[in-house]
Amino acid sequence: MKRVITFGTFDVFHVGHINILERAKQQGDYLIVGVSSDGLNFSKKKRYPIYSQADRIKILSSLQFVDEVFVEESLELKPEYIKRFKADVLVMGDDWAGRFDEMKSLCEVLYLPRTPSISTTEIIEVVKSL
Ligand code: CTP
Repeated sequence: MKRVITFGTFDVFHVGHINILERAKQQGDYLIVGVSSDGLNFSKKKRYPIYSQADRIKILSSLQFVDEVFVEESLELKPEYIKRFKADVLVMGDDWAGRFDEMKSLCEVLYLPRTPSISTTEIIEVVKSL
């Protein structure tokens, strides 16, 4: 059984999120998603996500192609998470291309193309401007 892992915030859930998760699952048999904690988001972006960690976990856990969800507490722990969840493949959107190449000693690393013209940041900006 091939185990796939991916990471992200998945705030204000949109079709780009669905597309990457669906394609991540197609890379193997079992998909594990590391969802950034509220605290990790604050440290990265200086704001909390619109949707709480608990709600983001609930949305991700309800998807048919997601098998397991856990909270990513720190960006530096990626190698630990890959080992802990026995991942064979790490999938990331190609906005991260090259950034996780050092994980290639632990598992296969794949960057999949992003869905064009949609992002959480853009949705927030559009709603703010209404
Ligand atoms: N993703 C994607 N296509 C999009 C938006 C996101 O494939 N149009 C992927 C990212 O590459 C990442 C995952 O979805 O692997 C989670 O991305 P996240 O950063 O949570 O979503 P964004 O919409 O990019 O959020 P933000 O605008 O806050 O960066």
